Amino acid sequence: MPQDTLTITDNRTGQTYTAPIDHGTIRAMDLRKIKTGAEDFGLMTYDPAFMNTASCRSAITYIDGDKGILRYRGYPIEVLAEHCTFLEVAYLLLFGELPTASELKHWVGEITHHTMLHESTKKFMEGFGHDAHPMAMLVSTLAALSSIYPESRNIHDPDNRLLQVKRLIGKVPSVAAMSYRHSVGYPYVYPDNDLSYPENFMNMLWKMAEPKYAANPVLARALDILFILHADHEQNCSANAMRAVGSAHTDPYLTTAAAAAALAGPLHGGANEEVLRMLDEIGSKANVPAYIKKIKEGKGKLMGFGHRVYKNYDPRAKIIKWTAEKVFEVTGHNPKLEIALELERIALQDEYFVQRKLYPNVDFYSGIIYQAMGFRPEMFTVLFAIPRTTGWLAQWQEMLNDPEQKIARPRQVWIGYETRQFVPIEQRVAVAAD
Ligand SMILES: CC(C)(COP(=O)(O)OP(=O)(O)OC[C@H]1O[C@@H](n2cnc3c(N)ncnc32)[C@H](O)[C@@H]1OP(=O)(O)O)[C@@H](O)C(=O)NCCC(=O)NCCS
Repeated sequence: MPQDTLTITDNRTGQTYTAPIDHGTIRAMDLRKIKTGAEDFGLMTYDPAFMNTASCRSAITYIDGDKGILRYRGYPIEVLAEHCTFLEVAYLLLFGELPTASELKHWVGEITHHTMLHESTKKFMEGFGHDAHPMAMLVSTLAALSSIYPESRNIHDPDNRLLQVKRLIGKVPSVAAMSYRHSVGYPYVYPDNDLSYPENFMNMLWKMAEPKYAANPVLARALDILFILHADHEQNCSANAMRAVGSAHTDPYLTTAAAAAALAGPLHGGANEEVLRMLDEIGSKANVPAYIKKIKEGKGKLMGFGHRVYKNYDPRAKIIKWTAEKVFEVTGHNPKLEIALELERIALQDEYFVQRKLYPNVDFYSGIIYQAMGFRPEMFTVLFAIPRTTGWLAQWQEMLNDPEQKIARPRQVWIGYETRQFVPIEQRVAVAAD
């Protein structure tokens, strides 16, 4: 019997089956042959929320949640955050290798020349109310780009795919900035090709009457680091949405909009906005113990704490804490940091959090930095979506190039009725529906 196999005995029939083990997994389809008889569909696994199911083989992002490791294409996140720009990391995620100096120059030039939006996109955005959530505007506008680039439907042509990838990476900061300017009632600012990726984003957000916007270099670098940290995170909820929707061969704009919609949820990308609300609710350092007590009594969750895969300190949170110090040297002290540090201090030694391995995640400090830089909480998830677009696109490309992938279509365990007798409307008995 080969060693890398699993032997399963079906106690219903006494039959024994062998399934190969590859990369620590067995193939779910190998279970299908385990049947009680010819009529039996075969055994399935039941795994709500994909707690223990690999949906793909991937070579993009590696996470070891127990050890607190995050690597893009084999490079530790700490090294990339220290030495690279976001667009350099974007190249790495998409193409698998770090670019040479000339490849990077070309790549940056290409992305820079795709930052402009079609004027009809501007008109589309003008239709939103001024109190529309910027994330709702971003998701809708990403989807609307599909109508401007109908050729993007041709997802099987690699050149065409690459063009859409460049357009999306180039345009997502422009859409994000427009959604912000719209919500505060300022005129839109067009991209400035002389500026770097983060500087141009800051220009489109904050340029007022000055002839040329000059970004603070410390804040621009901090933003670029935050972009690097948020660029990809393997099979999270939005990456899974990207792969699932993309598996139907939907065009990349609609698919990215679907991924961004997943990111908008408070359990995913919306958490940093929730962290700020939580810190506001706590109000002062003195109120932290009472707040922790409330959480332990089951009244809510400590936002920015806990992670599906990290059961150790999120490595991104460490870099963010360091980045926060640099930002505060420019912007001045943020009183929320004091509350956050106290929350972290108490939670890290409290039995409830220790036992459940609940550590600060990337969202715990990012919101405080964003606020210090002048962003409103409504913009936080949008700031997450900008770099994550690259990760989604890398996951999407990998999925399309994987010959094993098909349209994503999970199975279900049926727990409903067998065939029921139809009851005419006049004979139906009311059930309490509200
Ligand atoms: C991220 C998150 C959704 C992961 O959830 P998960 O892997 O499904 O973990 P579970 O919800 O099963 O949590 C396990 C236990 O820890 C508790 N827990 C998890 N996160 C918690 C938090 N932030 N505060 C308090 N308790 C928490 C759960 O109540 C549960 O306790 P129980 O075993 O007594 O029932 C969850 O930790 C969370 O909601 N965190 C806050 C939101 C957040 O910061 N999200 C950003 C993620 S980057």
